[in-house]
Amino acid sequence: MPQAADSRRAAFVTGASTGIGAAIALGLARDGFDVAVSATRAGNLADTLAALKPLGARISAVELDLRSQASMERAMGEVLGTLGHLDVLVNNAGVTLRRTALEVTPDEWDALMAVNLKGTFFMCQQMGRHLAGARRAGCIVNIASMHGLVGYPQRSAYGISKAGIIHMTRMLAIEWAELRIRVNAVAPGTVDTPSRAEYFSARPAERDAMVNRIPLRRFGLPGEVAGAVCYLAGPEAQYITGQTLPLDGGLSAY
Ligand SMILES: NC(=O)c1ccc[n+]([C@@H]2O[C@H](COP(=O)([O-])OP(=O)(O)OC[C@H]3O[C@@H](n4cnc5c(N)ncnc54)[C@H](OP(=O)(O)O)[C@@H]3O)[C@@H](O)[C@H]2O)c1
Repeated sequence: MPQAADSRRAAFVTGASTGIGAAIALGLARDGFDVAVSATRAGNLADTLAALKPLGARISAVELDLRSQASMERAMGEVLGTLGHLDVLVNNAGVTLRRTALEVTPDEWDALMAVNLKGTFFMCQQMGRHLAGARRAGCIVNIASMHGLVGYPQRSAYGISKAGIIHMTRMLAIEWAELRIRVNAVAPGTVDTPSRAEYFSARPAERDAMVNRIPLRRFGLPGEVAGAVCYLAGPEAQYITGQTLPLDGGLSAY
């Protein structure tokens, strides 16, 4: 017998057009969640939607630009209008910046922080308000990065944005525990996504040097990040909050 919409679990994955976000959306759908997915343009979600469709989940596809508060509110409203409620928010959407600390400009800094830090925070706030208003337990999983845990050249602004997400995760977990909202993060090392494959195809020496620093001697896979997110969103992680799980082949263990 089909479940009533309100008794089904529902998750929203931002930045799910490709790479890690698409894998997380598929993983949650396989775990029985109805799934909302976003990209900056709806057309970018075609491949993800085609992969989600056979899994039988109810789906909501929305446009979301984390640089705009109005866009965040509109996207959340559309998702709730379609799915009725949310149990899980995965803040995956993010941008990267490869610049030395001597090069980075104030405009680049603002653009990066607007998406990675401010966007993530105000999406958390939207989710917190929804769950608090509905008196529903729920959880948020933020996608941080190994660069938020350990130092690395040419990634200072990006690493600082991700370190901010890791600390945001702790702060919100403490503040919202009484609302039964868990907040956790995962911190991937380099993951073999289409965008990284494109970057490294022209830089094989840089790729080899990075792989050789990783104890497990390979990059991560999008499905491995999805597995960790599904665990943190699932029934076996109900006593975990405020934590960041590194997924980096052992790199941060040095
Ligand atoms: N890949 C890695 O090696 C790695 C390692 C550690 C952490 N991460 C983190 O994991 C997450 C996903 O990485 P990825 O490599 O899969 O990313 P990606 O391939 O670059 O995809 C990024 C996603 O974010 C969306 N996005 C970009 N700008 C946005 C904005 N202003 N507002 C809303 N959405 C926006 C994109 O939507 P459009 O399709 O519309 O552009 C896309 O869906 C990011 O937070 C990244 O920092 C990645």
